[in-house]
Amino acid sequence: MKTLFFSAKPYDKISFNTHNSNPHLQLEYLETHLGPHIVNAVEDGTFAVCVFVNDRLTPEVIEVLAAKGVKVIALRCAGFNNVHLETAKKYGIRVCRVPAYSPEAVAEHAVAMLLTLNRKTHKAYNRVREQNFSLNGLLGFNLHGKTVGVVGTGKIGEAFCKIMMGFGCKVIAYDIVSDPELAAAGVSYCNFETLLQQSDIISLHCPLTPDNRYLINKANIAQMKKGVTIINTSRGALINTGDVIEGLKTGQIAYLGIDVYEQEEKLFFKDLSGSIIDDDAIQRLMSFPNVLVTGHQAFFTEEALKQIAVTTLSSITALANGEEPDAQRMLA
Ligand code: NAI
Repeated sequence: MKTLFFSAKPYDKISFNTHNSNPHLQLEYLETHLGPHIVNAVEDGTFAVCVFVNDRLTPEVIEVLAAKGVKVIALRCAGFNNVHLETAKKYGIRVCRVPAYSPEAVAEHAVAMLLTLNRKTHKAYNRVREQNFSLNGLLGFNLHGKTVGVVGTGKIGEAFCKIMMGFGCKVIAYDIVSDPELAAAGVSYCNFETLLQQSDIISLHCPLTPDNRYLINKANIAQMKKGVTIINTSRGALINTGDVIEGLKTGQIAYLGIDVYEQEEKLFFKDLSGSIIDDDAIQRLMSFPNVLVTGHQAFFTEEALKQIAVTTLSSITALANGEEPDAQRMLA
């Protein structure tokens, strides 16, 4: 029974091969991402395709997969905005994901970005390597006492809220569904406008949906406190990059940390150090001293990779055996 991986990196192969205890499951790996250019390479009778955040499962791609007899699309990630679920349902292809492999991994990375920006450790690291021990330009600000606005208080948002409360921050949150336990723990839920107006730091932890594309846009940036810090570890298109660049230029946004970028599929997970990058927006962003970009690495811990492999393989095995995996894992 074959599972064909797309966007497979060396660490994926090691992790999945290590944790595959099902002798009937044959794992094959392709480095290319899945899209219309390659879908015809999927052999007839392949049981599952295993995909990641930047694979494109458009209706056309899913139609071809269905014609080849693919039964399962296994996302080895939590977000699923890149899969056209209606088409998968139409063809009876089951779609599973890994709903929570390590929410703490992503939350901790968001905090790492915030601490880098507010204490300028990225600059200090380079400076002392050149024997420059001057503090000029490294002035930071305390997190203690600041108001942190969290958009989306699911598994990752919850972990992030708890860390920030530990720092002595006031944590306010906006979610379409409030979490009473988190509220009891000290998080104040408010509407989105209030969050924009009151937060010193805004961190995005909601999924990308058709309704919240460009949630961070010119009009919303104008409502924020001058000198706000924005952290996005969720999905790139939650932010209108052009509007954020304008906000950085005027100083309305003092710091920006992004682990995700709207056009990231052309860039992230690749070594482009010898290439000319044909994307002026990311080049502009990376030219700001107060912007930190990481290449979708928030999930990337040993603990998370193990959990991703174990959960994905058990879902595929269950579906192959005619069993139903945990409902939270199933999208179609
Ligand atoms: P989750 O499903 O546990 O929580 C998402 C929360 O967002 C829910 O409480 C939901 O009600 C809320 N929400 C949905 N739409 C909203 C909206 N329009 N406005 C405000 N809140 C809204 O998801 P989880 O596991 O916490 O992950 C959140 C996101 O983090 C994922 O969708 C994914 O995009 C991103 N992610 C990023 C990773 C990285 O490596 N950078 C790794 C894993 C996830």
